[in-house]
Amino acid sequence: MQKVLVVAGARPNFMKVAPILAELKTRGIEHLLVHSGQHYDAAMSDAFFVDLGLPAPDRHLGVGSGTHAQQTARVMEAFEPVLEEARPDWVVVVGDVNSTLACALVAAKLRPAIGCRIAHVEAGLRSNDWTMPEEVNRVLTDRMSDLLLTPSRDAEPNLRGEGIAQERIVFVGNVMIDSLLRILPVARRRNIAADLGVADTPYAVATLHRPSNVDDEARLRVIIGAFSELANERPIVLPLHPRTRERVRAFGLEPLLASLVVTEPLGYTQMLGLQAEAAVVLTDSGGVQEETTVLGVPCVTLRETTERPITVTEGTNRMAPWPLTHEGILSAARAALAAGRVAVGTRAPEGWDGCAGVRIVDAMIAASRRAGTA
Ligand code: UD1
Repeated sequence: MQKVLVVAGARPNFMKVAPILAELKTRGIEHLLVHSGQHYDAAMSDAFFVDLGLPAPDRHLGVGSGTHAQQTARVMEAFEPVLEEARPDWVVVVGDVNSTLACALVAAKLRPAIGCRIAHVEAGLRSNDWTMPEEVNRVLTDRMSDLLLTPSRDAEPNLRGEGIAQERIVFVGNVMIDSLLRILPVARRRNIAADLGVADTPYAVATLHRPSNVDDEARLRVIIGAFSELANERPIVLPLHPRTRERVRAFGLEPLLASLVVTEPLGYTQMLGLQAEAAVVLTDSGGVQEETTVLGVPCVTLRETTERPITVTEGTNRMAPWPLTHEGILSAARAALAAGRVAVGTRAPEGWDGCAGVRIVDAMIAASRRAGTA
């Protein structure tokens, strides 16, 4: 394996590529980082590069926001010449965002011409909800990838059920947890809870950004209404995603935010530190379900399904009753609070141990050897 091109595009990608890039560097394997620019704000992108110690991207595609089709198409158009010029042995894509699918699709079409192969990190997760853009991205990216690197054991039967050959699947564990375990001591020392004035009380943290929750006025009203009632009992910190901020304004829901501690989107270290000390987390994010599981913090997921069921069966996550109601959210939050916290790592699933980056690079080297291109 001579050269590896790693793609990152949006906030949830950055903590996944950092350990892979670090391991490639340690082993002296030539690599380059391509940033699609899907997320571009200081708070959604730059802060993560600083916190995670990521190198500046070798290429920045600068695609920005747009509809799904616009965003995917722009990434594809910009990525094609970059890939043609770089001619890597491997293209590594992570997670399930539009940039993941776009770059995998470009690589799949150029594969015969340049002889690259595609590794998908976080393969095999399925919500089985085809209304989720991320589910479409996951299934198609897996279908096109040569090497499917799974974060948990339950991903493999999902892939086998779709007819994917066993030899393409390698269990490597959860690479996001490599970043979490590395940064956690720094995150705790930073003590963001004190900066936000919530350190003295058991506080809650909430995150909300899925289109299915925030683009629907009635549902957004129910969720934020429940947050606002919970805020009578304990502080709730709500770092507000740009999409959610825009919808809250458009639907005139700002008054419901008055009792919450609303912040800009937080950097990686700040968000990790805030979660680590929380009494409960309420979220519709995929990554936060995983982070709370390792941190031992009870989590309530505000979605109908999860592609990360292991966080429920083995971790500290629970699904809010569906459809979401005011009472349902409150009762799930109270049940989570009653369950309480457990020590960090006590509920970590297999392979969520800080060593996934090493196993990912091992798996690519082994696959190159098998193909005779090591
Ligand atoms: C994307 C991912 C989602 C991930 C989320 C994390 C897809 C399909 N979705 O959703 O899986 O959980 O990122 O945040 O790829 N915006 C800014 N600044 C930015 C980026 C976005 O203001 O740096 C605003 C834009 O108005 C944009 C909106 O946020 O229209 C949504 O951004 P977009 O990248 O389309 O999707 P996310 O909802 O962030």
